[in-house]
Order: sequence, then structure tokens, then C-alpha cells
Amino acid sequence: MTVLDTNPSDAFVNDRKHVFHSWSAQGALNPAVITRAEGSHFWTEDGTKYLDFSSQLVNVNIGHQHPKLVAAIKEYADKLCTIAPYHANDARSEAARLIVEAAGQGIAESQLDMVFFTNGGAEATENAVRMARLHTGRNKVLNHYRSYHGGTNGAITLTGDPRRWPSEPGMPGVVKFWGPYAYRSAFHSSSEAEEGQRALQHLDDVLMVEGAHTVAAIIIETVVGTNGILVPPPGYLAGIRERCDRHGIVMICDEVMSGFGRCGEWFAFQKWGVQPDLVCFAKGSNSGYLPLGGVVISRAIADTFKDKPFPGGLTYSGHPLACASAVASINIFKEEGIIEHARSLGSDVIAPGLAKLQANHPSVGEVRGLGVFWAIELVKDRATHEPLVPFNAAGADAAPMGELAAACKARGVWPFTHFNRVHVVPPCNTSAELVEEGLAVLDDVLTLADAHYTG
Ligand SMILES: Cc1ncc(COP(=O)(O)O)c(C=O)c1O
Repeated sequence: MTVLDTNPSDAFVNDRKHVFHSWSAQGALNPAVITRAEGSHFWTEDGTKYLDFSSQLVNVNIGHQHPKLVAAIKEYADKLCTIAPYHANDARSEAARLIVEAAGQGIAESQLDMVFFTNGGAEATENAVRMARLHTGRNKVLNHYRSYHGGTNGAITLTGDPRRWPSEPGMPGVVKFWGPYAYRSAFHSSSEAEEGQRALQHLDDVLMVEGAHTVAAIIIETVVGTNGILVPPPGYLAGIRERCDRHGIVMICDEVMSGFGRCGEWFAFQKWGVQPDLVCFAKGSNSGYLPLGGVVISRAIADTFKDKPFPGGLTYSGHPLACASAVASINIFKEEGIIEHARSLGSDVIAPGLAKLQANHPSVGEVRGLGVFWAIELVKDRATHEPLVPFNAAGADAAPMGELAAACKARGVWPFTHFNRVHVVPPCNTSAELVEEGLAVLDDVLTLADAHYTG
């Protein structure tokens, strides 16, 4: 017996009839039917092959259908598919040990040593905030406008981008501030260094008027993902750490997108040698082969819940099969040097490749990123930085980005686009040759963006 003996064309028909999709007006959808995937490629029902320059939702860090990861899942499924979270289990224990070990890489005397497992990223940010509030006895949470932290009630309130608007007012006690973004500075700065300093000064002002003693946590994406691939200027993370220490605030790094190789590190905060109190992870921890996320917890915060219960839980917290896939994935990362590969793809292939695109195309206003986590920011005018399409554009306003995405797909590259940006985010183990192939396609299609250039 096979799992599915339906006709592939039923997939589309039944999808349109019965599958209610995320973030979408259901009537307008025309999803591609995916039948196969391997490495950095996937195939649609009609046999069209795509180079995955999106890693789906920037989560398939290890590539599609990694044979050793698939084999590990099959092997563990034969052993134990599920068990309640209150039991101990070898896959869960080993996943926690390996994730704690990964979180401590390069950090002297890491304080991060326990893991609360969730099903994904939103539950990780929800529970991190819950821990911070109970640990400090305070309520307020500060975070960046340019951010995404998940789709559940608390996580969408934390989210800075427009996906929050329909769910407002959401969870009480969340206050937003501007993070550093030198290309579109909220602080009129003229350099990265100045941007970092002014962003911290702004945070000081926000802490002053909010009352730093009322703030439980500052939660940031270490490197902002969907909202722009915003790499923090030198000193910014250390500045957040210092303010958290000074005011007794919990520092939460949301590494759901930036973690597990994406930035050429196990976790992005390691690049700056700064250690948060709580770390949210999901996506790249097992590349989404099974749903998994969690919070890495410092000893001090874990101790808060030594004698008093932590008031949160999930039926699938530490799901054995998902945890077994994380164990296998982390070990494959080590065996295959995927972190190092991601780092060198960034410095040796993507950075120079994008610099060339910027030289070739007036519409490329800025390129930025690290590891396998890059953005091409498209503009109508390099002098004014007017974006190719307006903030949160939809319909006809967004057409230039729609054209660009369609042209990529027509040339066999599946892009990740957001607002006026194309993100270059293939799997972390994509070969240099394939990345160059994808960049050549971008070079070709960016002429479409240049046609809208008015500068
Ligand atoms: C930084 C960040 N945090 C949280 C989430 C939410 O994760 P999930 O969709 O697994 O709930 C995402 C998802 O894109 C994310 O990028």
C-alpha cells in the first residue's frame, strides 16, 4: 500500500476546494503543485524544475530530501513515533543537549543550558515572552518595528510589519522602537556606526519614557529576516545586552530565521560574541522536515521555574520524531561542514555576486547580508532611495515586483520577494555553482526593475 494513490491533478482540485491557505485571499490563489524535491531544487507537477532561492520560507537550510536526514526519520519512526511531553525520551534529550551545545559555540561560559520545545517559531516567541514576564515580574515587552515574530496572538502583536494590523490590539504591553537600518535611517545617520549609536540612544529614550523598571524583555531578530535582512551595526547587540543588564531586562534573540547556519554561525548572535538570556529557534533546526521550534533558556531563568511551575505546555513539546530529525540534522551539519560552507558562500560567492548586480543595475539601491541571508533592495532612484514599490504595496502598485518574480520563475529560479526586495536565501549547503547560476538569472531579470528606474 502506498500512502497516497491519488492522481497528482487531484492535488490542485482538492487544494482549491478544501485547503485554506495562510495570509491569503482564498479566491485568488493558484498554488504550484509540488511533486518532488532534492537538494536545492524542487519540481512541479508538469516536470518544471526550480532552483530554490527561497529555501521555501527560509527554513530548508539543509536542502530538500537530504538522504541521511530522511533515513534518520524513517529509522526513528520505526522505533517511536510519539510520546507525551512528560516522559523522558532519548531523541528529545539528545536534541536538547545538541541545541544547548550549538547555542554555546564561541561563547565563553555560556549560560544557555535548557530547551523548551515547541512546534514552531510563533510558539517559541510566545513562550519566551511568558518566561521573561514571570522571571522579572514585569509586563512590558519592547521590540523593533521592522520585525516578524509569528502569527499567534502574542507573536503577531510583537510583529512590527503590517501583518499585525488586522489582529490589533492583540496582547497588551508591547511597545515598538526603531532598530538600525542605515539605508533608510529613522535617525538621519550618515554611517553604519552612527546608525547603531543613534538607535541605542533612541532605545534609551524609549526606556526612559516607558520606565525601564516596567520592561520584562527586549525581543529582537538578531538579524532581521523577512523585513529586510538588517544586519546590526557593530556594537548594537552589545548595546542591547548592556541595557538589559543595567535595567534587569531579559534579552531575547529571535533566531527562528537567522539561526542554524543561515548567517554562517550556529546562531547569529555568536558573530558578535553577545549572549542573550533566551533564544527562539525553529526553521533551520531540522529544516522543517517535521514541525519543531523552541526556546533555549539561560540557567538563571530556568531556575525561576525550579520550584514554581512553568505555566505553559504543548501536547507535542519535544515530539520524539521531530527531535530525532533535529539530532540527525545537527550531526549532518557538523559532518558536512554546512556552517562553514554557508559562511564562505556569503563572503566568496554571494557578496561579490551581488556587488556585480549592483554595478550592472541602477535599480539595485543596496545589497546587504551575511552567510546565506542576503537582500537586494530595489529603488526607483538611487539618490532619494525611493523604493521600487511602496511599503506594503498590493495589486497594481506591487506589479513591478510581481513581474520580477514571474520572470525568475520562468527562468527556473524560485525567488523570495518581500516589498521592494529580493532576498537571496537558498539552502545553506547549495553549491557555489548553483548560487552563481541563480545570480545570473537575477542579473538577467533585473533589467525589468531597471525599466522602472526614474533617477
Ligand atoms: C524571525 C521569525 N520569528 C518567528 C517566526 C514564526 O515562525 P513559525 O512560522 O514557525 O511560527 C518566523 C517565521 O517566519 C520568523 O521569521
